Amino acid sequence: MEIINLVILFSGNGSNMENLVHKLHDKEFASLSFPDKKYLLQVSACITNNPLAYGIKRCENLGIKCEIMSHKDFNKREDFDNSLCKLVLTYQPKLCILAGFMRILSDKFTSYINAINIHPSLLPKFKGANAIEESYYSQEINGGVSVHYVNEFLDGGEIILQESIKKIKNESLSDFEERIHHLEYEIYPKAILKVLKLKEA
Ligand code: GRF
Repeated sequence: MEIINLVILFSGNGSNMENLVHKLHDKEFASLSFPDKKYLLQVSACITNNPLAYGIKRCENLGIKCEIMSHKDFNKREDFDNSLCKLVLTYQPKLCILAGFMRILSDKFTSYINAINIHPSLLPKFKGANAIEESYYSQEINGGVSVHYVNEFLDGGEIILQESIKKIKNESLSDFEERIHHLEYEIYPKAILKVLKLKEA
């Protein structure tokens, strides 16, 4: 059976990374076009730019290799992106998955790596680090989650999958946030299978 390697990048908590490992790692999937053809997905490694990220502990518990490459060890953004790109390529991933990776990547990375990202809003609305709060306090009727290809613009690449949730009157920010995260856990694995043209075996 053919193996498909995946690399996951994160910067902090790592709950999306953990969810993806549970749902995809070491699991068999079938090709959408040739259902008899089966593939084994392997999270070959995770990489974090933050030596204090809680996700490192999660990797230890999951038995997934985690590499730490701090952006603070580089003078220029492009140098970090270049080294990160080289490190990712050592694992020969078919897809690089950003899951709470809090850095904008330049073309030193995006030109060479096929990467996707998850963002907790209905892009192009509410790009950036405060998407959940901005969406919660906005006049919008719906919030939501987007999975998109990564390019050198913040939350800017082509949308792969997007799903919305209705805002509930008087719901607290933390309850709204929890519903957004649950939606993330549902749609990120689906979006990855869509990109890889795979389905449940
Ligand atoms: C998620 O909300 C994701 O959409 C955003 O950063 C957050 C990461 O959370 N890009 P976690 O580290 O996966 O728990």
